[in-house]
Amino acid sequence: MKIKKIDSSNINSVDFENLNFGAVFSDHMFTCDYVDGKWINPEIIPYQPISVSPASRVFHYGQACFEGMKAFKDDNNDVWLFRPTENYNRIIKSSVRLAMPKFPEELFFEGLNTLLKMDAQWIKPGIGNSLYIRPFIFASEGSINATEACEYKFMIICAPASSYYSDDVKVKIEKSFSRAAKGGVGYAKAAGNYAAQFYPTSLAIDEGYQQIIWTDSSTHQYIEEAGTMNLFFRIEDKLLTAPTSDSILDGITRKSLIQIAKDKGIDVEVRPIKVDELIDAANSGTLIEIFGSGTAVVVLPIVGFGFENKKFDLPKVENSWASILKNELNGIQYNLIDDPYNWTVKI
Ligand code: COI
Repeated sequence: MKIKKIDSSNINSVDFENLNFGAVFSDHMFTCDYVDGKWINPEIIPYQPISVSPASRVFHYGQACFEGMKAFKDDNNDVWLFRPTENYNRIIKSSVRLAMPKFPEELFFEGLNTLLKMDAQWIKPGIGNSLYIRPFIFASEGSINATEACEYKFMIICAPASSYYSDDVKVKIEKSFSRAAKGGVGYAKAAGNYAAQFYPTSLAIDEGYQQIIWTDSSTHQYIEEAGTMNLFFRIEDKLLTAPTSDSILDGITRKSLIQIAKDKGIDVEVRPIKVDELIDAANSGTLIEIFGSGTAVVVLPIVGFGFENKKFDLPKVENSWASILKNELNGIQYNLIDDPYNWTVKI
């Protein structure tokens, strides 16, 4: 792998106390090209604009997918990844669904580990601080023939991160627009899944929400996910989450929380959740918590939600399950407590 280091780091121009998620990038990036059926030219170079044909199929047909991962620094300045093989496996799953070539596992980890070692100073210690890692693949071939491309680029860029949302989050249960349909690409981290949410989300933002809870596209009766996060509902003494499917992303934070919750003796039910069940629980006072989970948001308490013309506020809870699960997850991610699951990998 070729390596070209930046002449002088940009790190001193960054205000780490006031980071906007995904707006600032570390000094270097990893790139690799797919040409003539082979992945070639792996290299790490200074973070910079790239040059691609305006006819690149990604711009016309959206042939692209990505991952979201984080690197954490502990108090000894050691750097840790959290379940990185899960991210690798998922980008392969997404690539296959989008007719893109599989990026080799060895090269993925060689590129990622080298990049993290080079940009380790961008990872600040302390709970809440991390380096958000964005691996992605897109069709770079300059031809607008509407078939899968013959040429691709795989890249990894990294952004120092603190919290994703700075304020309380309320969500709207959506029943007109859909995120994903049966047989579609909802389970993949396809770039277009996110673009398609921007317009309905902007309407929800105008109504005072930050995100949408998507419901199934055929009946709009069942809860799916929230687009940048999977969802958990604490109703009475149970923690409910929808099963993953071809329209729901198989979240790595989601499955980690399910495991941690079960091991803490919480009664977790992974089953279809009806919107009506949620509304009934909110009306009768048995809906105690809602929270989202995802790499970017970690565990995000949701303070209220809306459905049709009704708005529901959730009461503040002492010792919330969201905070208990988040503390345990963070403890493992930042190497503060034992990792009984072998989820963390030292760089
Ligand atoms: C992540 O949590 O990594 C995601 O992919 C959500 C993102 C669109 C910010």
